[in-house]
Amino acid sequence: MITKIDHLGIAVRSLDEAVPFYEKSLGLKCEHREEVASQKVRTAFFTVGEVHLELLEPTSPDSPIAKFLEKNGEGIHHVAFGTTDIEAQLGQAAAGGCRLINEEPFEGAGGKLVAFLHPKSTHGVLTELCAPIAR
Ligand code: CO
Repeated sequence: MITKIDHLGIAVRSLDEAVPFYEKSLGLKCEHREEVASQKVRTAFFTVGEVHLELLEPTSPDSPIAKFLEKNGEGIHHVAFGTTDIEAQLGQAAAGGCRLINEEPFEGAGGKLVAFLHPKSTHGVLTELCAPIAR
């Protein structure tokens, strides 16, 4: 079951340039920075109420974020829904005819399991499902 919007992913060229905007101009505080090697990104997290912002900077020209920036420039990259059961949620999406980018969830930033649904199947919004990793 989807219980919340967990975060918005925002593609930026440089965390060092984008983070100060959120801190100085909006008064938010960067809580956490983390590199996700498998996705070739560096991330910076902010919290706004119950929703997080995940700034994403590419670490390589072949990063998915580098390709996104090339095509679209900086801006909103994905919407992430928090779910209680990511496997079941992926199954439901697939059963509904949705094209999955990830058939299996993988470990993303912030100690969460994540999987993406293809924007061609989601009316143009790259959609992430995420759930805490059960340990
Ligand atoms: Co995300």
